Amino acid sequence: MENPSFYFCTFAHLSKTGIQKLMDVFQAIDRSRLPRHIAIIMDGNGRWAKERGEDRVYGHHEGVLSVRDIVNTCGELGVEYLTLYAFSTENWNRPQAEVNALMELLVNTIRKEIEELRKNKVRLHVIGDFASLPEICQKELNEARELTAMNDGVNLILALSYSSRWEIVEAAKSIAREVLAGKISPDDVTDDVFRQHLTTKDFPDPELMIRTSGEHRISNYLLYQLAYAELYFTNVHWPDFRKPHLLEAIYNFQQRERRFGKTSEQIQTNSPQHA
Ligand code: FPP
Repeated sequence: MENPSFYFCTFAHLSKTGIQKLMDVFQAIDRSRLPRHIAIIMDGNGRWAKERGEDRVYGHHEGVLSVRDIVNTCGELGVEYLTLYAFSTENWNRPQAEVNALMELLVNTIRKEIEELRKNKVRLHVIGDFASLPEICQKELNEARELTAMNDGVNLILALSYSSRWEIVEAAKSIAREVLAGKISPDDVTDDVFRQHLTTKDFPDPELMIRTSGEHRISNYLLYQLAYAELYFTNVHWPDFRKPHLLEAIYNFQQRERRFGKTSEQIQTNSPQHA
């Protein structure tokens, strides 16, 4: 245990058994084999609110508390990249009042949290169809990106107005333009070249993808990048998903054998695992 006080102060509300369980999971996590990049589909805000007789937007507000806790936990553990699916292309089809509330929540959260992000050395990135966001969101996000650009802690990547099919089609268009301009030939298009045209070109592929709230789908999220990710599904709704749940997901990830198409025998004789 490297820093017990951190666990006790954050989990003062947990029972003795809860704290013990958390410490056990924390100790069982192998710090040398953390996923570098975790991607999350934060699902279940609406259901969480409904179960409490509240409006869906209340669930989104509570979801922000989980965002803060998970970002901090990633920073404390040393996870380098965290991508959060905050608003999908398909989410534009929700009732206008909910869309407006989500955009307002985004702006207010960035404003409120910017100092905390700076203090914790979090660097903010955005992927998705940036131009489709309301101007006020673009302005706030641009400012936050600039203010955090020099930070060297966790890279927090917000997927906003994002969908994988949109991203892949945009990449295809961009490559086609380069071919037309004579900059590259079709035969030059490799996996590496393709990746350079994706919105995630600056980040490694996620190794762990978590979806909360019991749905077992990828929902148009990082389809290209998740090719070899370990998928982890939990019934916990996003507003309830906190540090212990993330630790459990990481522990579960570390129990898996990542074979990348090879055999188990090959993996065991060719350590490290990512050979
Ligand atoms: C999915 O739950 C959640 C969303 C579409 C929005 C996620 C947004 C937040 C957690 C808050 C804002 C985030 C940031 C980064 C400021 P759902 O509404 O689909 O839930 P349901 O499936 O139960 O209806």
